[in-house]
Amino acid sequence: MALFQSSTSAVPAVASVPRHVAMIMDGNGRWAKKRFLPRVAGHKQGVETIREMVKACLDLGVEYLTLFAFSSENWRRPPDEVSFLMGLFIAALEREVVKLDEKNVRLRLIGRRDRFAPEIVRAIETAEARTQGNQGLTLTIAADYGGRWDILQATRALLRDRPDFAAEQEIDEEALTPYLAMAYAPEPDLFIRTGGEARISNFLLWQLAYTELYFTDVFWPDFDRGQLDLAIASYRQRERRFGRTSEQLKDAAC
Ligand code: IPE
Ligand code: IPE
Ligand code: MG
Repeated sequence: MALFQSSTSAVPAVASVPRHVAMIMDGNGRWAKKRFLPRVAGHKQGVETIREMVKACLDLGVEYLTLFAFSSENWRRPPDEVSFLMGLFIAALEREVVKLDEKNVRLRLIGRRDRFAPEIVRAIETAEARTQGNQGLTLTIAADYGGRWDILQATRALLRDRPDFAAEQEIDEEALTPYLAMAYAPEPDLFIRTGGEARISNFLLWQLAYTELYFTDVFWPDFDRGQLDLAIASYRQRERRFGRTSEQLKDAAC
């Protein structure tokens, strides 16, 4: 049984504060380039924005914040940049976990773990274990994550658990969704991508089916609380119809 209802099986409740916000943190390199700094200076500055977003989401009452930190395709970057990002990742995990724990934040990592160095895997496991009982905000970091990988790993896990599946028709949403990496969270209400690109870049492909999409040209290191408020204000203007007509929504509200 899935913990949360799927937006394609049932119409989810809509609140004025998005319950789940998912973000692609893009534009670090260009932020640095504009300042004649090396690209990695943008990644370093980007960690400050993560801190600010966690604080803002706690204040606003957002329950789930999901951040795309490293995609399955980001391994294609120059080795120096990849290794800087890995170093930053482990340092941030080790440094921030105490503060996150104090703020009652539950930290989760989604993505492949088998391509990370053992010390990164250890830092992830320690951080997750330390914060697992927290109930304030669930902060998910997607690292070595790809939406296609997620759907495939879920399918494989389902078939492993239930090799006796009699008919292929039995594989439906209900059966598959508990195996997706984010089965512990409702689907995102609001998706934000900074940095000016209007694409999903293999982020949460399945889970974004009915998410409201928001794209901004602001580079991630410049994204702040005010920018988040603008995104939420835009979200509040949207009519989330989930396949129905506008008239049906108005009738239901009367
Ligand atoms: C996002 O910023 C961070 C990661 C993908 C790790 P970029 O590094 O993609 O910055 P741009 O897009 O080159 O400006
Ligand atoms: C997407 O950013 C991945 C993360 C932010 C981690 P990229 O900058 O790697 O995306 P593409 O490749 O330009 O689409
Ligand atoms: Mg980019």
